[in-house]
Amino acid sequence: MDIRRKMNISKRSMRMMIGLLWLALSMQAMEKQTPLVSNIYARDYQSLNGKWNYIIDPLENGYYDYRLEPFQKSGFFENRKMKHPGELIEYDFDTSPAMDIPSDWNSKDEKLYVYEGTVWFRRNFTVHKEPGKRYVLYFGAVNYDTKVYVNGKKVGEHIGGYTPFNFDVSDVLNEGENFVVLKVDNKRHKDAVPTVNMDWWNYGGITRDVLLAALPATYVEDYLIQLKKDEKNTISGWLRLNHAVEGEKVIVEIPGLKLRKELVTGAGGEVAFEYKAKPELWTPEDPRLYEVQIRTDHECIHDRIGFRTIETQGTSILLNGKPVFLRGISIHEEAPFREGRAWSEEDAVTLLSWAKEMGCNYVRLAHYPHNEKMVRKAEEMGLMVWSEIPVYWTISWDNPDTYQNAKNQLHDMICRDKNRCAIVIWSIANETPHGEARDNFLRNLSQYARSMDNTRLISMAMEVTKAPDYVNRLQDNMNEYVDVVSFNQYIGWYRATVEDCKKMKWDIPYQKPVIISEFGGGAQQGLFGTKEERWTEEYQEELYIQNLAMLDKIDALAGLSPWILMDFKSPRRQLPGIQDFYNRKGLISKWGIRKKAFYVMQHYYENKKEQYK
Ligand code: GCU
Repeated sequence: MDIRRKMNISKRSMRMMIGLLWLALSMQAMEKQTPLVSNIYARDYQSLNGKWNYIIDPLENGYYDYRLEPFQKSGFFENRKMKHPGELIEYDFDTSPAMDIPSDWNSKDEKLYVYEGTVWFRRNFTVHKEPGKRYVLYFGAVNYDTKVYVNGKKVGEHIGGYTPFNFDVSDVLNEGENFVVLKVDNKRHKDAVPTVNMDWWNYGGITRDVLLAALPATYVEDYLIQLKKDEKNTISGWLRLNHAVEGEKVIVEIPGLKLRKELVTGAGGEVAFEYKAKPELWTPEDPRLYEVQIRTDHECIHDRIGFRTIETQGTSILLNGKPVFLRGISIHEEAPFREGRAWSEEDAVTLLSWAKEMGCNYVRLAHYPHNEKMVRKAEEMGLMVWSEIPVYWTISWDNPDTYQNAKNQLHDMICRDKNRCAIVIWSIANETPHGEARDNFLRNLSQYARSMDNTRLISMAMEVTKAPDYVNRLQDNMNEYVDVVSFNQYIGWYRATVEDCKKMKWDIPYQKPVIISEFGGGAQQGLFGTKEERWTEEYQEELYIQNLAMLDKIDALAGLSPWILMDFKSPRRQLPGIQDFYNRKGLISKWGIRKKAFYVMQHYYENKKEQYK
């Protein structure tokens, strides 16, 4: 073969190599998750909520061929249509059923009530692209393993069921008609976060808002504005653009403080700032939020931010320097008055109004980050928040991928809500078994949380052990990595009797504030009888009376979040006629009816409020 021919072949193969390399890099670039756009609801966006067609795919037949090789083409993500009557296509979104999104599929289609596997979702949408804009596709949360395709091209994937994620889809969007397809798989896995067992329903699907934001080519990607740690009269913060543009002018304005500052970004497209100011501090009694405007030549972002300090001093929790008792209640992200996940502002107002009616100034949002509206509503209504990642029970402590998954969820929780003054506690775990691997895993998480945010308290729900002579001992190596020692206890329900509460003693050898992150017992609303009969409202009422009297003896007690505000679905609760797949420890039934124990808590908090005036 002459040299010219060899040269031609090598030139062609070189061109092919370069082409493949470019394709791989652009695929990777496209799939690289875009950093979370802060305060997405303040951006220019169109909602993609509404009717999405869906296809149930238990064998992932829309993703793998019959040899279990992922389809490069001809997967369901292509949303193909027949081009001629002889064509073989064995799926069709247009003639498939449609589901209102956001929602969990379990409550929307009885075929999916206990389904765990893949469901495909497809939404058609129109975009009139503006030159120079970036288009970011945002998901409030999708449970659990999600692959996202726009116009048949993969734009990325996400693992985790309770934190937001977004992708820049500018380069794959058409002018006019587009479609987005999601492959959502809610199967549980031993190495996932949470792992395979938990006491809540494994709701699958697109469970929170879907938005398409239209952003300027250079936009404010992220920012933080809060009181400087340990300085009540200094507002500090930073902001970062979506790329390293130096010299970009940014104006930060807080009209309520007569504060207006002109900033210029540095080399990394970032700028930090701090200003003397004397804001009225946010408290549950007076949840003062300030209008904040962040303006560049291309956009103006509005936010509402509160200013407060939270710290511990010995066994006290101090809010704005004053001891505070956290009058709380635990809440699952479960919808009131209907089946399924809570996701809307209306759901948030209902649940949080019930907490306020009980006399709460604090809520424990269990066992995963709730939707952003719930946190923002808590802030507006004057409720401090414990926000938690689902490192729950028997996690795969030795698996580095599991740790990375937990760390990602912790990062995304803090990233989304770092400007929400209502959040006072980041929680990294719930009821995890002792052991060296678990201690290492949680210590690293705790240190990572602190490195991201040293202004809030860190905690986790620990467990007490029963010792002789009615002693309950808290012994947990993690005590030095938390600011508040919190633990769950179920005396009178899972162990001992309600009467035994009167004999119980507590051994908590840590000079830190104590929060009882869970206690309680079940009752079927409307089932009345004697206080000796399990499942009656009277049993639950007496359990609360005796538990509160017992817990009040703990000197370092700084807060409570009884388990739980409202009955919620769980696959672990099978007692016919009483549970029927519901955990009945709610103080309120699914249908909003207060049980007798609700009023015990309400009375207790009225007294606590007086005590801390
Ligand atoms: C545990 C756990 C909760 C669970 C509760 C119960 O403490 O943290 O998630 O629902 O007990 O058994 O009802």
